Amino acid sequence: MPKSSLGQVPLSTLRSPPAPPQCSPRLPVMAVLGIDIGGSGIKGNLVDPLTGLLEGDRLKIATPQPATPKAVAEVVREIADHFAYQGPVGCTFPAIVQHGVTLSAANVDESWVGTDADALFEEVTGRPFTMLNDADAAAIAEMEFGAGRDRDGVVVLLTFGTGIGSGIFVDRMLVPNTELGHIEFRGHAPVEHWCAARIRKEDKLSWEDWARRVNRYLIHLKRLFTPDLFIVGGGVSRKWERFGHVLDPGVETIPAELQNEAGIVGAAMAAARL
Ligand code: BGC
Repeated sequence: MPKSSLGQVPLSTLRSPPAPPQCSPRLPVMAVLGIDIGGSGIKGNLVDPLTGLLEGDRLKIATPQPATPKAVAEVVREIADHFAYQGPVGCTFPAIVQHGVTLSAANVDESWVGTDADALFEEVTGRPFTMLNDADAAAIAEMEFGAGRDRDGVVVLLTFGTGIGSGIFVDRMLVPNTELGHIEFRGHAPVEHWCAARIRKEDKLSWEDWARRVNRYLIHLKRLFTPDLFIVGGGVSRKWERFGHVLDPGVETIPAELQNEAGIVGAAMAAARL
């Protein structure tokens, strides 16, 4: 049976559990394992998909080098085993993921391009998998439990890290696999090579000088999408007080709230929709 594409299900379907019959206690909801694959670490934790709360301590294992699909799948299995978890797993990946197949490899091993990651992970771990783009997962979590909760219209979440990831919601429906870090801007192609968080360190920019670049980028995105809200995510959201005042693209712009755990939470929510 073909998998339903992410984004076809409005978040509101998950938002509130059906009202329980009067006088009977709410049924316990099974925690779902969320895994976040990054360039340096692979993190996992159990998440209650109805509250977004993490259960217990997360496990982080260094990303194997080279980070080939097979080597990463082994680490993912280790994480599922660690939690003694047998249910459906949600898993982020820092590239385009369409119907479980990884289609790009901007900051990861080339061998991922064209890999059926869902099938590989299911085979290696023996559990059903839902793979999705890392920024899409972060956006799903922020829209439900963080800075985007209760926000309609066009919401553009950007994650600033090694690259720039994007998650766009239109009236609370995700448009999956937008790659706004890969557009060309001011001769920079892709733009993530000009204003990702990594570039701030590499070019030795102050927070404010880096944010001036980001602000120009946001103004450009505003012209393209006319969003109602920008959410700035990734590790930099913890440093908002250092640069937030520089961002003034003419659209409300706020920091993400869930920070490090947004990927894990969004992944678990995606798997819970299976
Ligand atoms: C990738 C995106 C990813 C982003 C953040 C970009 O280079 O193309 O798919 O979401 O980095 O990891």
